[in-house]
Amino acid sequence: MARKKIALVGAGQIGGTMALVLAQKQLGDVVLIDIPQTEGMPKGKALDIMEGRSVMGTSCNLSGSTDYADIAGADVVIVTAGVPRKPGMSRDDLLGINCGVIKTVGEAIKNTAPNAFVIVITNPLDAMVYNMQKVTGFPSNKVIGMAGVLDSSRLACFVAMELGVSAEDVKAVVMGGHGDTMVSLYDCVSVGGIPLSRLMSKEKFDELAKRTAGAGGEIVNLLVRGSAFYSPATSAIKMAEAYLLDKKSVLTCAVKLDGEYGVKGLYCGVPCVIGANGVEKIFDLSSSMNDAEKAAFANSVEACKKNADWVDANT
Ligand code: NAI
Ligand code: 2OP
Repeated sequence: MARKKIALVGAGQIGGTMALVLAQKQLGDVVLIDIPQTEGMPKGKALDIMEGRSVMGTSCNLSGSTDYADIAGADVVIVTAGVPRKPGMSRDDLLGINCGVIKTVGEAIKNTAPNAFVIVITNPLDAMVYNMQKVTGFPSNKVIGMAGVLDSSRLACFVAMELGVSAEDVKAVVMGGHGDTMVSLYDCVSVGGIPLSRLMSKEKFDELAKRTAGAGGEIVNLLVRGSAFYSPATSAIKMAEAYLLDKKSVLTCAVKLDGEYGVKGLYCGVPCVIGANGVEKIFDLSSSMNDAEKAAFANSVEACKKNADWVDANT
């Protein structure tokens, strides 16, 4: 069986980390792409990881390039191309600059890797994945955004730290847009199969949900020179793995809604099933959400719509 090919467009902090994780997991051969001004950086990162393969025990090949021709035939393309946040900036401050980057990248993917499953990470996430699908014209089941996996993992981390349990035993759902309006669902957190309500008060949960909504900013303030990259990288690889291995994984991803949650034609984070056909199913939880959750989700959808409208008006 031929090896899978995974193209990482943007070889910066997240791109480089994803290349390492992909090699360790042996998910396929990796091509790192960046802009010509970065000179040898994508090549250097690829070679650096290649030189560690004997120690890691992996046989995947990695290469770096500034030529989009090298992503030809990629099975998966993960896009981080663009600019990250600095302290004092919101994700929305990146809208103008990253919108242009996604246009360039999207056209290149359309021409060179027309059958790829595309995962967008570039911020502001919901608007950038909306733009990517628009530019490529790919079916919406093949173009998704990474945010909910990360936000849910952050909430799970904070719950695990509070309870003093293993984070791998905590599952959480954080949905909506990837911004201050994201929605954490109390009754969707489980700890080793036990509903969180049996272990933690709603008041304490609300504190952790608030920290989750600000978790990206918390890291930006600590790093000063950029934003989070280890957990965003591993979150995106979880999504790529679900597709490549046809795992039918239940993951919260930014997907194009087609009437679910009463929303049509807009990208927003919701729980869905990812397998060999990309987004295979969207779980519509709206009928079981309480009034506060419904209102919070509607507010988050509104934030996604505002940025998508900006994309429509400016592209
Ligand atoms: P970074 O600055 O380290 O890497 C971005 C790379 O993109 C740079 O190497 C840059 O040269 C490259 N680039 C710019 N224009 C390009 C183009 N036209 N073609 C190819 N490459 C291009 O940034 P980092 O930390 O890797 O973050 C990347 C993006 O991911 C940012 O927009 C950031 O805000 C976003 N992000 C999203 C998260 C999410 O949950 N969706 C979480 C964390 C970051
Ligand atoms: C994060 O959530 C900045 O979106 C980025 O870390």
